[in-house]
Amino acid sequence: MFKRIVLVVLTLIVLAVAGLFALAYRRAIPPVTPPVASAFAPDLVARGEILAGAGYCATCHTAKGGQPYAGGYAMVTPFGTIYSTNITPDPATGIGNWSEEAFRRAMHDGVSRDGSHLFPAFPYQHFNQVTDDDIKALYAFFMTRAPVNAPARQPDIPFPLNLRALQAGWKLLFFRDNAYGPISGKSPEWDRGAYLAEGIAHCSACHSPRNALGAEDTGSSRYGGAVVDSWYAPPLNASNPAPIAWNVDELYSYLHNGGTALHGVAAGSMSQVIHQGLSKLPDADVHAIAVYMADRMGHGDQGAAPDAALAKVMTAATQSSLPQTAPGAAIYAAACASCHYNRGPTPLLVRPELGLNSALTGTDPSTLIQVILHGINADEGLPGLMMPGFAHSFSDAQVAELANWLRQNRTDQAPWPDLEKKVAELRKPSPPDTSK
Ligand code: HEC
Ligand code: HEC
Ligand code: HEC
Repeated sequence: MFKRIVLVVLTLIVLAVAGLFALAYRRAIPPVTPPVASAFAPDLVARGEILAGAGYCATCHTAKGGQPYAGGYAMVTPFGTIYSTNITPDPATGIGNWSEEAFRRAMHDGVSRDGSHLFPAFPYQHFNQVTDDDIKALYAFFMTRAPVNAPARQPDIPFPLNLRALQAGWKLLFFRDNAYGPISGKSPEWDRGAYLAEGIAHCSACHSPRNALGAEDTGSSRYGGAVVDSWYAPPLNASNPAPIAWNVDELYSYLHNGGTALHGVAAGSMSQVIHQGLSKLPDADVHAIAVYMADRMGHGDQGAAPDAALAKVMTAATQSSLPQTAPGAAIYAAACASCHYNRGPTPLLVRPELGLNSALTGTDPSTLIQVILHGINADEGLPGLMMPGFAHSFSDAQVAELANWLRQNRTDQAPWPDLEKKVAELRKPSPPDTSK
């Protein structure tokens, strides 16, 4: 009897392991002789360059101070650190001997040329929606770059999560073939915007919350906002916390210029999205994304009439420049008011009005703390403008006091909990992002 049970259990284990391997198995696609650059039409390469911009390939595939697209950029995930790979056409360490079919399979299914599964830190769930035509253009662009010899760095992910075969299970649970097709009843511009935003530009990868296994929320919390790399990416749905509703014009200015007077500026990774990514797209495409996003956020062309909301914020702004006794108010008067001082009816673009900013009105204080500690470089946000960082001037307690006071004084929202602890966390230097 006992022998029999052991036998049954062993058989089940063998079957389960065999099942996993069968599920995970993908064939290797044979290597090809690297195609010569002249094999690709120049206009195809040019179109690929635009798409590579819109997909931020350079941002994720370039290590700090490293060669473009040679990989080694570190992505810190809750499961460990993953390093991007070399996507220059070097045959030994890059994708030089990849056929177009192998490249398309990686982009659409998250499978490397040798058949191993890729981790979803590579946003193939979105690139999956990029048409074959656009994949062809991307392939032409990458195969005509200068090859760089740079071996990939293995992920620092603990066993057994580092087993690539397990990704087959993840895909079974969370990965759907999302080939994008036009939605009936929407304008061609809306469709174009949706195709770009959901596919190559993968806006929801940062703006949607993720579950415990790292999969994006696809239900009602989709685009519900998230903290990514210690920055707060606000919701891009009806729960967006900006006091003045985003409309097409405001979204277009923000995505085109890096900031607007009525909403503030794009710092952190959003600055890279705009200045290293969307800036490569034709203006009409950026406008199409704005049309799609405004509709998602529920306001389309109209937006709520800004006047009442604006008047309220400007009144609070004027009052907060009067002498006050709260400790946060004194820090604000000494360190911030000289630049962020506005008097109605409308704020100036060069002095972001803090009461209008989602960094103050949102559910998470990370962006506000990051900006106070580390400032904003001249090439981030609105180009040419910069804000100094105050990491060396203020203690954690002082930054927390200031953030708490701004929240209380300039918004209607409940206080943020545990501010001082959060400041201490965000003060730490970010991990190195080079494998060299
Ligand atoms: C959010 C960061 C991120 C972005 C944006 C990104 N990648 Fe990647 N990519 C990665 C990571 C990380 C890996 C490695 C995944 C792994 O090791 O499983 C990867 C792997 C790949 C691979 C597989 C390489 C191999 O050797 O298996 C290809 C091809 C690729 N990326 C192409 C692109 C292209 C083209 C773009 C732009 C359209 C792009 N990536 C944008 C993070 C990114
Ligand atoms: C790599 C992560 C990332 C990606 C990808 C990304 N965003 Fe963002 N986004 C952020 C962060 C972080 C912020 C907050 C920036 C700040 O306040 O300085 C932000 C802010 C915004 C805001 C301002 C919201 C507000 O209420 O202040 C808009 C609008 C926006 N993003 C739109 C987009 C669109 C459209 C896309 C796709 C084309 C996109 N984002 C892709 C990270 C990202
Ligand atoms: C020397 C002038 C100056 C001072 C002092 C200053 N700021 Fe700024 N701040 C700016 C400018 C300019 C921008 C927009 C930067 C850009 O677009 O590149 C900005 C942007 C911001 C933003 C918007 C960030 C976003 O992502 O939307 C916040 C929040 C902010 N400042 C808070 C503060 C606080 C709090 C203080 C006081 C500790 C302060 N600033 C001090 C000039 C200043």
